[in-house]
Amino acid sequence: MEFYDVIGKRRSIRSYKPDPVPDEALRRIGEAVRSAPTACNRQPYKMWIVRNPEKRAALAKVYAQKWFAEAPAIAVIAGRESEAWRRLEGDTIVNVDAAIAMEHFMLAATAEGLGCCWICAFRRAEADKALGLDPEYHAVALSPLGYPAAEPGPFSRKPLSELFEVVD
Ligand SMILES: Cc1cc2nc3c(=O)[nH]c(=O)nc-3n(C[C@H](O)[C@H](O)[C@H](O)COP(=O)(O)O)c2cc1C
Repeated sequence: MEFYDVIGKRRSIRSYKPDPVPDEALRRIGEAVRSAPTACNRQPYKMWIVRNPEKRAALAKVYAQKWFAEAPAIAVIAGRESEAWRRLEGDTIVNVDAAIAMEHFMLAATAEGLGCCWICAFRRAEADKALGLDPEYHAVALSPLGYPAAEPGPFSRKPLSELFEVVD
């Protein structure tokens, strides 16, 4: 797929087929995640693609939506604050770094014909526990991953001029 086609095709998918996600697609998605930029190249994140049914069921409890539990895989991105660059004012950039890597994941998944959906409204401490995370890592976002079973709803955005402006 062409880059701008991928951008336009990426939507939040909230219905999944049970078909498994191929290893080859996951390898390419993993490389796309790895290529994401991070502040000072610290790479203070890790992503897991959870396919194991028991672990997926445990993780699905942190965000109670049927379509989330039904997806054949769940992606989790966690940030490690101690490793992240800090702004000049001292606050951490870890969520920005993790979000960029997550969006690389979303676009690569879309290019593979897979569906995904940003999830942040999950119970974070429970997710960290379900994943058995090193205490230095905290989950930043989740996403179901699988082949879409239904088309997303209509696209809706503010007018371009409200969101993007060229200043000459
Ligand atoms: C940071 C972030 C958090 C989000 N959290 C959730 C969520 O918890 N549950 C959900 O169903 N969608 C979530 N979304 C998806 C948004 O609702 C969706 O991206 C938005 O409505 C635009 O629709 P689109 O992704 O189909 O273009 C989240 C999106 C972002 C970027």
